[in-house]
Amino acid sequence: MSQQSLSVKRDGFTSSFGVLAATLGSAVGLGNIWKFPYMTGANGGAGFLLVYLLATLLIGLPVMIAEITLGRQAKANPITTLQRLAPRGQPWWLIGAFGMLAAFLIMSFYSEVVAWVFAYILKAIDGSILSSDPQVTGAAFGALISDPLQSLLWQWGVLIFIGGILLCGVSKGIEAVTKKLMPLLFLLLLMLCAVSLSLEKASEGLAFLFQPDFSKITGSVVLMAMGLAFFKLSIGMGTMMTYGSYFRDDQNIPSTTVRVMAADLFVSMLAGIAIFPAVFTFGFEPAAGPSLVFITIPAVFAQIPMGHLLMVVFFVLAAVAATGAMLSLLEVPVAIIHERFGLSRKKATLISLLILALMGSTCALTNSTLAEFKLFGMTMFDLFDYLSSNIILPAGGIFVALFVGWVWGFDKLKLALSNHGALANEGLVRVLFFLLRYVSPLLILLVMLKGLGLF
Ligand code: PFF
Repeated sequence: MSQQSLSVKRDGFTSSFGVLAATLGSAVGLGNIWKFPYMTGANGGAGFLLVYLLATLLIGLPVMIAEITLGRQAKANPITTLQRLAPRGQPWWLIGAFGMLAAFLIMSFYSEVVAWVFAYILKAIDGSILSSDPQVTGAAFGALISDPLQSLLWQWGVLIFIGGILLCGVSKGIEAVTKKLMPLLFLLLLMLCAVSLSLEKASEGLAFLFQPDFSKITGSVVLMAMGLAFFKLSIGMGTMMTYGSYFRDDQNIPSTTVRVMAADLFVSMLAGIAIFPAVFTFGFEPAAGPSLVFITIPAVFAQIPMGHLLMVVFFVLAAVAATGAMLSLLEVPVAIIHERFGLSRKKATLISLLILALMGSTCALTNSTLAEFKLFGMTMFDLFDYLSSNIILPAGGIFVALFVGWVWGFDKLKLALSNHGALANEGLVRVLFFLLRYVSPLLILLVMLKGLGLF
């Protein structure tokens, strides 16, 4: 790989609020509204939530801080970042290369879920899904995902839309819009929570979400909860390294990270509280899987005055949040192809989208034409999700932690995190360093081995 890319000039975030908002824009997305509730439902509820919280604090937070710090230090895409910071000849840049693979795997199924959200905006407008009857909402969702043409066209529509945003260079504009609209999504979720909490079986839903049944916490549940923590924070694959490379030098990285993590958790909790009381009240199946949100949310809106209009607003806002996360995913291959191979951003975007259209189609057709096509007993949609969240991202996390803990070292970490002495945070850096050097890599490894049934 050539070193000529080292001199590429890069944009950066201009205000410290901009940094916070953009990082949050990557973390908050369908992971909160779609993946968190359905995985919690499918894996037994509160026990899963508890492990997810622990994984976020003990593993996610230190790895996220480490990634952002490395990115800011080297100011480059993940591959170049690790080449610059590692001793010559050591292959740490592979973290970035695998990150790019993970980005494509995630985008392949993520773009399909974004497609469902876009399709649901239309369904919300025509009112056909506004019902508290599991039969009605379930049938509407089933009809959408089992139609190969619709699934493909919606997905390609999403890719063209996202590509258009990047190619027209209006992603900054989109970020500005996202920033303004996210508080609205927040308010709408709060309102949904209030409605859901007033439902007849709200207490059952809350018990499912908050009273752990420890017998349900198996090795594979722990692995999935940890995988979700990585997916949620967009870590283990270079996204946060890429974003870190746009961070300002005077930004307080630990405090920004903690705030992003807290806000992200809060949005997920709101989604959970909005959904589970309704699941129990209307007789949905908590373990319904990826369809859970799409069949339950309309049921809650069916309970409120102006529910029709508000449901349209909800899916529009969900689409906005998903677009922000998708843009950050696409940024990983685009930055790598642009900076490493010297292609224009335009070409890099087009190439990435083309690869994505091919890979993504296998996920779009997962519930129709390719339903029987399985590898390791999983459809492509499930396989791409499993491979990225439960294997590549955690492995990336192990190597990021090992790199900072054993190669980069305490002194450089301290210098970078204290902004060259401007912040007095040595105690915090010590704890962080200890976590990165010993705790996170070992924990991740143990969880992976156990979850994959290797010991
Ligand atoms: N964190 C995003 C979400 O929860 O929706 C998904 C995601 C974005 C994962 C960017 C990974 C990533 F690099």
